[in-house]
Amino acid sequence: MYDRQLHQHINSILLQNKIDIAGKDNLFYVRMMANADTLSYLYNEIYSKHPESAVLFDQLIETIIKAYVNRPEAMKTKDEEKEQKGNWFLSNEITGMSLYVDRFCGNIKTLGTKLDYFQKLGVNFLHLMPLFESPEGESDGGYAVSDFRKVDERFGSLKELQSLQQKMNKAGMYLMIDIVLNHTSHRHEWAEKAKAGDSTYQQYFYMFDDRRIPDEYDKAMPEIFPESSPGNFTYVQECNKWVMTVFHHYQWDLNYTNPVVLREMLDNIFFYANLGVDILRIDAPAFIWKQLGTTCQNLPQAHSLLRLIKQCVMIATPGMALLGEAIVAPKEIMKYFGTGLYTAKECDFAYNATHMALQWDMLATGDTRVMLAAQHEILQKPFGTSWITYTRCHDDIGLGYDDYMIQYAGYNPYEHRKYLKEYYAGVYPGSPAMGALFSTNPKTGDARISGSLASLCGLERAITNNDEQAIEMSIRKILLMQAHSFFLGGVPMLFYGDEAGYTNDYSYLNDPGKSYDNRWMHRPVIDWEKNKRIVEDGTIENKVFSATKKLISLRKKLTVASDYKNLTWLTPHNIYVAGYLRTYEEQRLYGIFNFSSKTSYLTWLAFKEHGNVPVKLFDHWTGKEFTVGTNYEHLIIEPYGFHLLEPMEP
Ligand code: GLC
Repeated sequence: MYDRQLHQHINSILLQNKIDIAGKDNLFYVRMMANADTLSYLYNEIYSKHPESAVLFDQLIETIIKAYVNRPEAMKTKDEEKEQKGNWFLSNEITGMSLYVDRFCGNIKTLGTKLDYFQKLGVNFLHLMPLFESPEGESDGGYAVSDFRKVDERFGSLKELQSLQQKMNKAGMYLMIDIVLNHTSHRHEWAEKAKAGDSTYQQYFYMFDDRRIPDEYDKAMPEIFPESSPGNFTYVQECNKWVMTVFHHYQWDLNYTNPVVLREMLDNIFFYANLGVDILRIDAPAFIWKQLGTTCQNLPQAHSLLRLIKQCVMIATPGMALLGEAIVAPKEIMKYFGTGLYTAKECDFAYNATHMALQWDMLATGDTRVMLAAQHEILQKPFGTSWITYTRCHDDIGLGYDDYMIQYAGYNPYEHRKYLKEYYAGVYPGSPAMGALFSTNPKTGDARISGSLASLCGLERAITNNDEQAIEMSIRKILLMQAHSFFLGGVPMLFYGDEAGYTNDYSYLNDPGKSYDNRWMHRPVIDWEKNKRIVEDGTIENKVFSATKKLISLRKKLTVASDYKNLTWLTPHNIYVAGYLRTYEEQRLYGIFNFSSKTSYLTWLAFKEHGNVPVKLFDHWTGKEFTVGTNYEHLIIEPYGFHLLEPMEP
């Protein structure tokens, strides 16, 4: 609702800041006014009871203005171009890769010399794992930030990051980095001041004099790293207080009930936006609001904060999209796209973590039914938002889907999860996988799974056993997993090393700063001598790289793979086969994936149940043509094989 007083008030702040509202800054002005009311509403929803609420709201507006004023002209132009394109990130032409700069190639400068590697593969979007200062040995892979503005010397300098961004931009590549919103390192200036007894900074965190309140919190809060960091609080000797540390003991949770914290972190968000970041990965957003007596995850205020951040970004730096890294229950993930009035106005992207885990479920069981039982949630994704689709990332695989989905397929949830964990840990008799359990919680029996894509698909064991047939089978599984996720809808995000079939890297065991965390087994150090084999015919590296490259280029060619529309699942006439139909304007694409170790048969009826019955199909993957047969005839799919079928003129 239009609020004249608010309008006049913001007008006066804009004028004080010399914003040329009717001239060159008019577009910014329009965005500010169009969003002012929502901004104020969201802010007051959270902070109206704070004694300094009004002053801090003005400061928030000033933070937005400053971000806009500091935004380089070239980025403002790019913002406009993106806005004109509308939903630029739904394009089928974007394929990402997530990587640790140091483990990939040493440092930022060298990364600038590797852009041709990405171009050769077809990757045009990089997620650089955290680069900002983080204490060695207490870093959580960079997710414990001690300075949000200083690039860690291990990687290089801010200048080098800026010139990398410019180089990428010239090459038509997009950039993603993280804002670690939920916590800071205990070595961050704010934490150091809090330790020294400064009460202003103690209010930046959740600090308590004794265990009374922490014990109350602990009753309802689950543990994230029960093995390496049990509990949710850490004793701080320097100030004789307890501080909330949901993740590791060295990651202090920021207190967003304090609006100053929001303003400071928003300023950091804008600092990243003005480095030219195209998509900002908001780390662990599910955790940013805490309330006694709850799990302190997915609370309504966490969503209000994200919506508020989205509004601010839309006003000052509209070309930057937001990815919410919410790895939570399926129903909860969906809420990060926004609900009600805020549908598609919260995070532009979320990880399709549910489907990622379900792909692993299908691969271990050869059964697609649990996966299908989850789709009624996933298919709620609103228009204008998108997924990051993936098979592996730097984190563990959590089997985060609901028990009822497992029951629906006729399995006992406890036994089913036990089987999956044993299968991927490689202890289930006959399992080809070589992963490990991560964060086993003896109190709840929970555990997640670590291991690289290749090792979980059996490549490591096959190589150890020198078993050619098993090697071929594991390569098929790798490609099946990638193809299934590439065409689902959303931006595919490869994890570095997977494009060349890297198996687990056990060198982390020799580093005391990493050995307590087995997620490092699937974060390889790239050996560029080995990577040279990507061009040697017949090598594993060559087979995986060239097939991955082919998948990427197919996706780029097929606009039907863009994410303007959610997919339709084909009727599961055969439980071993996952089949989906993608449509866009007149185009149609059937993705057919056999998750079984045996040849599978899919009735042609499956292709006739969604109108526009095709007569002939062209398989973009094999280059073969198929004539659609009678309902009693079948498409025959080889073990772990797949087809990407487009109807063609008869
Ligand atoms: C996110 C990151 C994970 C990290 C955690 C704490 O989940 O992906 O690697 O440990 O946040 O920052």
